[in-house]
Amino acid sequence: MVKISLGGCNPFVKKEEYNAYVQKAFAAFDELQGEKGAGNDFLGWKTLPVDIPESLVKDCEAIRDDWAARGVNLVVVIGIGGSYLGARCAIEALSHQFLPQKGAPRVVFAGNNLSEDYLAELMDLVEQSNAACVVISKSGTTTEPAVAFRIVKEYLEKKYKDASERIVAITDAKKGALKTLATQEGYRTFVVPDNVGGRFSVLTPVGLLPIVLAGFDIRAMLKGAADEREALLAKTEDNAAIQYAAIRNLLYSEKGKKVEILVSFEPRLQYLGEWWKQLYGESEGKEGCGIYPASVIFTTDLHSMGQFIQEGERVLFETTVKVENAKRSVVIGSDAQNLDQLNYLAGEHVEHCNRMAQLGTKLAHIDGGVPQIEISIDRVDEYNLGAIFYFFEFACGVSAYLLGINPFNQPGVEAYKKNMFALLRKPGYEAQTEEILKRI
Ligand code: PA5
Repeated sequence: MVKISLGGCNPFVKKEEYNAYVQKAFAAFDELQGEKGAGNDFLGWKTLPVDIPESLVKDCEAIRDDWAARGVNLVVVIGIGGSYLGARCAIEALSHQFLPQKGAPRVVFAGNNLSEDYLAELMDLVEQSNAACVVISKSGTTTEPAVAFRIVKEYLEKKYKDASERIVAITDAKKGALKTLATQEGYRTFVVPDNVGGRFSVLTPVGLLPIVLAGFDIRAMLKGAADEREALLAKTEDNAAIQYAAIRNLLYSEKGKKVEILVSFEPRLQYLGEWWKQLYGESEGKEGCGIYPASVIFTTDLHSMGQFIQEGERVLFETTVKVENAKRSVVIGSDAQNLDQLNYLAGEHVEHCNRMAQLGTKLAHIDGGVPQIEISIDRVDEYNLGAIFYFFEFACGVSAYLLGINPFNQPGVEAYKKNMFALLRKPGYEAQTEEILKRI
């Protein structure tokens, strides 16, 4: 279960200020749970942990087993934004950080950029491997994954007689180019539910299938999410999502804290930061407001961003994702010469140093005027990832409603696409092409 601690905000906020924001969070909670607020046709994510049927889990496992039988040792997962970040976050968090996952294919990601070198080097790997592909696009028309898929598909079709068995499409139930193609080519498909937006889709097949293929237990992940959902149902001051929504909006609206940095002292959680940035950035960053979400990995980034966080412009607060238990044990040894002067740590676990670094950083940053929120999980496993995914999604809904924003749309994402299509001279964009060429 996710726990929250706001003690590191005490020097910055008065109790009565916080209480006022808890009342606002209660109202936002009612709006979310009443399902009458803005964007209420995109609330399907709220019950996913208890709605996902066993048959869907089994369908994901059937693909895994079928590809294992075909000797597949590389799965290319193609998607961008919400059709990519949840799966990547879970797989990076759960995988060994250096060795391949035993008994599972390597999972790599594509279609999340338009870099020619990236795709060329990806194809170097595909050519050396026994490959399969999962292509994910809710709309079925997003340029980045469409370009990558065209290239991967062409290669698979040339190399393998069973190419259509090596491609799975995850897309809309009825519409879109990918749905049409999948039907035409006979690909196995999974549906992204209509009422679940991309950044809230990690607990749909968008996240679940790649996570299963990488060798992880999605039943445990769904259980963690279901338990967290249960824990967040009560409208009380102890509700961690209400506390998080209240404090971050108070810091933003009353204390000039415009930037929230998600911190982890676990490098395997780097992509939790990437997933969280999309969730909060795309949900709240509109109509000229919203907290800017940033992320760092400490202690690594204390040696790059630490100076700014300690002494730069005082617009920051930090939310640290604490992991209570390390998976492994490494103890620091004693050295006869002690040239590095580390013998005072002999016999200590490395994790002890990590914790002291965490505590020391928290106190230093409080002294530097940076309020501290802590979100804790027991360990990094499927269960706790499911819980933290659900926690941040639910808290995001409460927080955005508190801010007066519809969390479930993303109108601003279209602006770059229109310009890109005009510059690429996409048919239908002739007038925009003429206009944009005058600007450059
Ligand atoms: O959250 C979102 O809506 C976006 O990040 C989308 O997920 C992203 O643009 C990919 O869209 P699609 O799945 O339609 O290809």
